This record gives sequence, structure tokens and C-alpha cells, in this order.
Amino acid sequence: MSKSFDVVVIGGGPGGYIAAIRAAQLDLQTACVDDWKTPAGKPALGGTCTNVGCIPSKALLQSSENYEHAGHGFAEHGVQIKGLAIDVAQMLRRKEKVVQQNNDGILYLFRKNKVRFFHGRGSFVRGGANGWEIRIEGGGDERLTARHVIVATGSNPRALPGAAFDNKFILDNDSALAIPEVPKRLGVVGAGVIGLEMGSVWRRLGSEVTILEVLPVFLGAVDEQVAKEAFKVFTKQGLAIHTGVNITRATPGRNVVVEYTDSAGKPGNVTFDKLIVAIGRVPNTSGLDAEAVGLKLDERGFIAVDEACRTNLPNVWAIGDVVRGPMLAHKAEEEGVAVAQRIAGQHGHVDFNTVPWVIYTSPEIAWVGKTEQQLTAEGVAYRTGTFPFMANGRARALGDTTGFVKMIADAGTDRILGVHIIGPMASELIAEAVVAMEFGAAAEDIALICHAHPSLSEAMKEAALAVDKRTLNL
Ligand code: FAD
Ligand code: NAI
Repeated sequence: MSKSFDVVVIGGGPGGYIAAIRAAQLDLQTACVDDWKTPAGKPALGGTCTNVGCIPSKALLQSSENYEHAGHGFAEHGVQIKGLAIDVAQMLRRKEKVVQQNNDGILYLFRKNKVRFFHGRGSFVRGGANGWEIRIEGGGDERLTARHVIVATGSNPRALPGAAFDNKFILDNDSALAIPEVPKRLGVVGAGVIGLEMGSVWRRLGSEVTILEVLPVFLGAVDEQVAKEAFKVFTKQGLAIHTGVNITRATPGRNVVVEYTDSAGKPGNVTFDKLIVAIGRVPNTSGLDAEAVGLKLDERGFIAVDEACRTNLPNVWAIGDVVRGPMLAHKAEEEGVAVAQRIAGQHGHVDFNTVPWVIYTSPEIAWVGKTEQQLTAEGVAYRTGTFPFMANGRARALGDTTGFVKMIADAGTDRILGVHIIGPMASELIAEAVVAMEFGAAAEDIALICHAHPSLSEAMKEAALAVDKRTLNL
């Protein structure tokens, strides 16, 4: 006999597990089905983000940054270190521990909120008068019925034609997080978020890193001024970034030989000890048996949804990486909460205009809202204000003065349209801009707010003042 629920969530990543918790908080009988397992075969809630994405990548970014500071930054502070060495095995053990703490934390939250967890692969069997029937494979082949189903099955790495992942030499994001020793020559395909973050980790630990990007421009979606500064800084750090490179084949053997044509159309090849392929991700609907119930996908393979995350099937919703929009954990979470609330008859709120983006390199890059290029293309009149961290007292004390905060405001109303940061703690600083934009603030509003001194956040206030050409500290 099948077990009955108000809501069954398929997928336990940040979209799915947050949706399940919110639904349970709203007194809906809720189950979450997730099939992720550790290499030892144990269930591991949290999806891509917790297991092979946001969390482990940030753990390695922190470890490698500590190593770089100890090797290159501490001496200036008078801190002497002798015999500095990197223990990659310990760094990876720590990363795994951080991941496990997060896996366990989600399980605890499920228990606390009375979300039933089923480990296994969930697929649609059929819909009927009593709701949807979901089969769970690998978990005792149980059946659940649900009034509502939320699909949150996430995404998988996109493979490069002619360079299939073998996860020994040609690595996806999972094995890129578990390279057992520092490769001498590391190639990275794709100068996107993963390429820059993972390239930074291994460069700091001593690899010669070469990044090969197919597009002619670097970080095309990022504000041009920020992208230019980032290219300059990353190149100076030692990342060799080549744009306009078309890879035709990568052949693993004792190492990986990559064949390409360069931006001038000239063929060439280059040999690496490891090659990370990070050229975007594709929605994951395999295993759902979507066809059996007629769940509609769009032309790119995403589950087709409206602005409220409704699919073409009654009471079937989809959220996160498996639907349109940015592939970000916090976007998935926002959609999860909104859908749970809609199911409970409440209002659901997701504002795509204020979803922040962060690239956790050093310096970090963060932005929210529109870029100058977008506003120009849309014919919107705007003013900008930029303030460099070089002129910020806290940044000088930190010894981290690279970059700037740039604010873009409507030329007529002064309403903030976008904020773009490259610099220390950009990931934290961007939150102020998100709040400001959510509340429809003007640049003048930020300029009028008292910011603690000395703090990096003063650069935000100064950028707001700069919109009106009246910075105080520059
Ligand atoms: P996922 O996290 O992919 O979870 C889907 C879950 O569903 C998985 O556990 C999967 O096994 C399970 N599943 C799939 N099909 C079934 C089925 N039929 N039955 C049962 N279970 C199923 N985003 C950020 O915002 N910040 C970051 O710093 C960041 N860093 C990243 C770093 C890397 C290296 C990568 C790869 C991604 C990163 N992301 C980051 C992106 C982020 O991980 C995703 O946007 C986020 O995980 C999407 O959440 P989701 O819930 O939609 O899907
Ligand atoms: P991405 O979309 O950020 O970057 C992929 C890059 O590869 C692009 O620059 C693209 O032009 C390039 N590319 C595509 N095909 C290519 C080819 N054949 N040869 C060379 N280059 C090619 O995707 P990425 O880095 O794989 O990350 C996937 C997603 O995961 C991101 O879009 C993001 O949504 C999420 N993510 C978020 C992070 C964060 O929030 N800090 C960190 C890591 C990932």
C-alpha cells in the first residue's frame, strides 16, 4: 500500500530540501525523495550544492587561500613562516568533513520539521483522483501518493564533444574537487564560474593553470569594467586565460592532449596533466519518467514552467536548476519557499531582478541587477558611481585593496538599477545592494545611511555618493 502525503518533493538539493521544510512548516504532510549517495553508498542530502558544488568548492577555496596568504601575504605583517607545506590529503579530508556536517544538518532539519525522507530514485507512475503516484527505486521500491509534487532534480555537468569525462584525466566538477595531488599543468575548459573558482584553487596550490574559453570575450555576462579588472588581476596572479579557443578533441593517456583552433583559426595542441571541463550544466530529468505522465520539457530540456513554477500538469511544480533562470542555490531555495507557500494557499515571492551573483575568486566578484551593457542596449539613461577599495581604510588595513564598488542608478529617478563589485568580501557586501534594490532605494538613500568606520561597506556608501559626483574620501 502506498503512503499518502500532501506534498512529495523529488530531489533533496537546496531547492528541494528547503521546499520540503517550508511545506512541513505550513502543516502539509511532506516527504522528500533523494537518490544522492556518498562513495560509501550512504544517503547524502543536499544535492549538487552540498556534495559537489557550493560547499566543497568554498572549503577548498578557503584552504588554498590560507596557504597562499601564509606563503605570500603574512610576511608583510611581520608573520614569519618556515617550512610551509600543503597537505592535500588533509585539505580534502577537511572538505569532506564540512560536506558531511551539512548533509547531517539537513537530516536533522528534516527530523525537526517532520519531513519524511526516502532514499532512492523517484519517478512518476501516474496521476489520478487521489493525486500523483511516485515510485521510489532503490529504497525498497516504495510507492507514495501526493496531492502535490515538487520536482527539484537539479542539473548535471555538460560534457565537451570529443572530450568525454573519464574523471581521471578529464574531470567534471565532482572529480575537480578531489584531485589527490597538485597537478603540475592543469587545463580548464570554460572561463565561467567553476573554471575561475577551481582554477584559482589549484593555481594557489602550485599548478600552472591555463583556461581555454570558446567565446571571444572574458566574462561576457559580467559588467565590462569588472570583467576587465578581473582579467587583469587573474592574469597577474598567474592564470593564463585564452579566449576564442575552439577545442576539437581531448585525448587522455598518460596525460591529456588537447587539440584546438585559436582565435585566429590556427590549429594547435597543448598537453596537461589534468583537464577540468566546466562549460555549463544541463537540466537533469533522467529517471523521472516524465514522458509517462506527459510532463512537458522546453527545447533545451528544462521542465517548462510558468512564472509561479507550475508545470503543464495539475499540482506538479518544478524549481531550481531543472527549470529556467540562473543555476544558483539561492534561486532554487527562493523558488522552493514560494512554491510551498502557493500550495498552502499563501503568496509566493521570487524577484529575479534582485538575485545576486557571486564568483568566489580572490578578489571576489559580486553583482545584482543590470550591467551598463544591458542598460545601454535597453536605451535606459543612467548614471554610475565608482569607488576603489584603494581609498578605503579597512581595505588598506586588511592589505586587500584590489577592485571597486560600482553603482548604477536611473538618470531620472536615481533608483538603483545595478551594483557591481570586485574586491574583498564582495559576497557579503552585495547583500546591502540586494536589500536596497528590493526596497526600491535610490543611490541617494544609500548615501544618506550611516556606515560603520572603518568597514568595507563604506565603499558602497562612497559609490552611492559618486553617482552624484560627491565622494568624500577620493
Ligand atoms: P541539485 O542541488 O542538483 O539537487 C538535485 C538533487 O536531486 C540531487 O541530490 C539529485 O541526486 C537528486 N535527484 C535527481 N533526480 C532524482 C530522482 N529522480 N529521484 C530522486 N532524487 C533525484 N550555486 C550558488 O548559489 N553558489 C555557489 O557558490 C555555487 N557553487 C557551485 C560550485 C560548483 C562546483 C557547482 C557544480 C555548482 C555550484 N553552484 C553554486 C550551483 C548550485 O549547486 C546549484 O544551483 C544548486 O545545487 C541547484 O539546486 P537544486 O536543488 O535545483 O538541484
Ligand atoms: P558557466 O556558464 O558559468 O561557464 C561556462 C563557460 O564555458 C562559459 O564562459 C562558456 O562560454 C564556456 N564554454 C562553453 N562551451 C565551451 C567550449 N566548448 N569550449 C570552451 N569554453 C566553453 O558554467 P560553469 O562554470 O560550468 O558552472 C555551471 C553553473 O554552476 C554556473 O552557471 C553557475 O550557475 C553555477 N555555479 C555557481 C557558482 C557560484 O555561484 N559561485 C560557482 C560554480 C558554479
